[in-house]
Amino acid sequence: RGMLALLLCGVSLALPPFVQADACKDVSMQNEAPSAGQPFAFNCTHPPLTSGQVRVTWYKYPSKSPISKNTQSRIHQEQNWILFLPLTQEDSGIYQCVINTNTCHRIRVNLTVLRKYWCGISGNGPLILSDEYKQILHAGRDGSLTCHLNFPQSCVLDSLKWYKGCEEIKGERFISWETRLSVSNVSAEDGGNYACQARLTHAGKQYTVLNSITVHIGKYARRIPKIIYPKNNSIEVELGSALTVDCNITDTRDNTNLRCWRVNNTLVDDYYSDSKRIREGLESHIFFQKHIFYTVNITFLEVKMEDYGHPFVCHAGVSAAYFILKLPAPNVQAYLIGGLLALVGAAASVTYLYHVFKVDIVLWYRSTFHSAGTKEDGKLYDAYVLYPKPQREFQSHEVDTLVLKILPEVLERQCGYKLFIFGRDEFPGQAVANVIDENIKLCRRLIIILVPESLSFDLLKNMSEEQIAVYNALIQDGMKVILIELGKVKDYTAMPESIQYIRQKHGAIQWSGDFAEQSQCAKTKFWKKVRYHMPPKRPPPSSSWGGQHGVGHP
Ligand SMILES: *[C@@H]1O[C@H](CO)[C@@H](O)[C@H](O)[C@H]1NC(C)=O
Ligand SMILES: *[C@@H]1O[C@H](CO)[C@@H](O)[C@H](O)[C@H]1NC(C)=O
Ligand SMILES: *[C@@H]1O[C@H](CO)[C@@H](O)[C@H](O)[C@H]1NC(C)=O
Ligand SMILES: *[C@@H]1O[C@H](CO)[C@@H](O)[C@H](O)[C@H]1NC(C)=O
Ligand SMILES: *[C@@H]1O[C@H](CO)[C@@H](O)[C@H](O)[C@H]1NC(C)=O
Ligand SMILES: *[C@@H]1O[C@H](CO)[C@@H](O)[C@H](O)[C@H]1NC(C)=O
Ligand SMILES: *[C@@H]1O[C@H](CO)[C@@H](O)[C@H](O)[C@H]1NC(C)=O
Repeated sequence: RGMLALLLCGVSLALPPFVQADACKDVSMQNEAPSAGQPFAFNCTHPPLTSGQVRVTWYKYPSKSPISKNTQSRIHQEQNWILFLPLTQEDSGIYQCVINTNTCHRIRVNLTVLRKYWCGISGNGPLILSDEYKQILHAGRDGSLTCHLNFPQSCVLDSLKWYKGCEEIKGERFISWETRLSVSNVSAEDGGNYACQARLTHAGKQYTVLNSITVHIGKYARRIPKIIYPKNNSIEVELGSALTVDCNITDTRDNTNLRCWRVNNTLVDDYYSDSKRIREGLESHIFFQKHIFYTVNITFLEVKMEDYGHPFVCHAGVSAAYFILKLPAPNVQAYLIGGLLALVGAAASVTYLYHVFKVDIVLWYRSTFHSAGTKEDGKLYDAYVLYPKPQREFQSHEVDTLVLKILPEVLERQCGYKLFIFGRDEFPGQAVANVIDENIKLCRRLIIILVPESLSFDLLKNMSEEQIAVYNALIQDGMKVILIELGKVKDYTAMPESIQYIRQKHGAIQWSGDFAEQSQCAKTKFWKKVRYHMPPKRPPPSSSWGGQHGVGHP
C-alpha cells in the first residue's frame, strides 16, 4: 500500500493552502482508510529520495512536534515507519512525513479510520473491518489471494488464517503459504467476501490484524500456450535409428494446461503401451518472471517404417504442433561422385572402344560421309611408293609382287586410290632424281616399304642420295608417311633418323598374309590399317584426270 504513494505525486498539485506555507516540497498524497481496532503501519518511502541514509520525521498536521519514537507509545515512529498499535477512530487526519536530505520533501497521508463490523471472530464480539482490498480469481484456473501485512520488522506476524464469509477456509483446493492463499480450479462460487487474519506481536504485546478482501470471479481469459518447437516441420531420420524430439512450450504461470505427445489422437504411451518403442518423457520446467518454459520429449527407441509420414503431435492446452519423420534425402555427394565415376568410366570405355575400333570407325565414317569435307589440295596421287631393291632373289621377288601387283590391286582397283610407283609410272628416259623430285610433290602420302635384314645397309644402298634427301625434306614438310614392314625389324638404330622418328611417332604396319595377288582383299586387318592411314578417298576428278591444271586451282 505504501508503494501506491509513489504513484500519486500528481495529487500534490491540488493541495490545500497550508502546504504552501512550508518550505518542503510535497511529493505525494496518499489516502488510507484502515479499520479501527487493529494495528496499522505506514512506511515513508519515496525512492530514490529515501534510499540510503536520510532523516525522516513524522508529524500529525497541524502539530509542529514530531510523532514519538518511543516504541511503547500507541502511535510512534520506527525507522521510516509510523505505527498505530492499534488504530482508533480519533486517529483520522493528515500525517506528514518529512524527508530531509539536502532539500526537504514531504509525503502526506490522509488517514480516514473506518468503523465496519465483521462477523465475530474468536468469540470476542464483532470486529471492525473496512472494505479494504479487491482481488480477482479466474474461473477454471488456479489463482491465489494475498494478505497485505505491511509492518516493520519489529512486528512478528504469524498464525495466518483465511476466512470466507465468517467461515475459516479449509479443503483440498486451498493451500495457505506465507501471506498467500492458493485456490485451485476456481469456480464462480469462489467469489465473495474473504478475510485474512494474522497475529502480530510487538514489544511483547499481541494484536490481531485483519484484511477484508472482496473477491470477484473473472472470466477465464484463456491464454494460449506457445509451442516453440516442433513447428509442423519434418525431421530426417535413418530407419532403425533412435530419436528424441523435444516439445518446447512457454505458458503463463499458474496455467492448468496439459502437455503431451499424441499420435493418431492417442497419447503415445497408450498407443505404444505394448512395445513401449515410443515413449513420452517426463515434463520439466523452468520458471521465468512472467511465464514458465516447459520441455517434454518423445523418444523413439528405434524408428520403424510405419513412423514415417505420420504427424506426431505435441499438445499444450489448445495449442498443437507436430513433426513428421522423413527418410533422409539421398546423399548428394555420394551421387555426385558416383555420377562422375560413371562419366569417367563411360569416357574411358568410349576411348578404349575408339582405340580398338578406330580404324573401322574411320573407314566406316569415310564410306558413309563420302569424302565430305575434303578439300582439293592440288595433288595428283594419293601415295608415292618408295621401296628398296633387296639383294636376295626371293625377297626381291616378294617386294616386286607387293609393290607392283598387290598394292595396285588393292589400293587402286579395290579402293580407287591413285599411286605413283617408281618403276611403273615414270616416263622412260626421265632422270631418276627428276622423277622423284617432281612426282613426290604431287602425292598426299609417302609409303615406305621396309625389308628386314637387308634393312640397315640395303635400304640406304638401294636408294639414291637424292631420294633420301627428298624424303627427309618431305617428312620435315609434314607429309604423312606410312611405314610398311615386310618382316620383323630387329634393329632400327642404323636407320636414318627421320625413319626412326616416324616409326616412333606413327608406328609401322606389319605385313601379314601371303603374296598371292588373287587372294588380296581390302577388308583384311592389314589393308584396313593401310587405308586408315591413307587420305580419305575423294570423288574421282571428273574433268581433270591426269592434268595438273584445273585440279585445286579453280
Ligand atoms: C520502508 O522504507 C524504507 C525507506 O524507503 C525502505 O528501505 C524499506 O525497505 C521499507 N520497508 C518496507 C517493508 O517496505
Ligand atoms: C481525506 O479523506 C477524506 C475521505 O476520503 C476526505 O473527505 C477529505 O477531504 C480528505 N482530506 C484531504 C485534505 O484531502
Ligand atoms: C474443476 O471443477 C469442476 C467443477 O467446478 C469439475 O468439474 C472439474 O473436474 C474440476 N477439475 C479438476 C482438475 O479438479
Ligand atoms: C528445447 O529446450 C531445451 C532446454 O530445455 C533445449 O536444450 C533444446 O535445444 C530446445 N529444443 C528446441 C528444438 O528448441
Ligand atoms: C527426455 O526426457 C527425460 C525425462 O523424462 C530425460 O531423462 C531424458 O534425458 C530426455 N532425453 C533427452 C534426449 O533429452
Ligand atoms: C495412424 O493410423 C493410420 C490408419 O489408422 C495408420 O496407417 C498409421 O500407421 C497410424 N500411425 C502411426 C504412427 O502408427
Ligand atoms: C501446426 O499444425 C496444427 C494442426 O495440427 C495447427 O493448429 C497449427 O496452427 C500449425 N502451426 C503452424 C505454425 O503452422
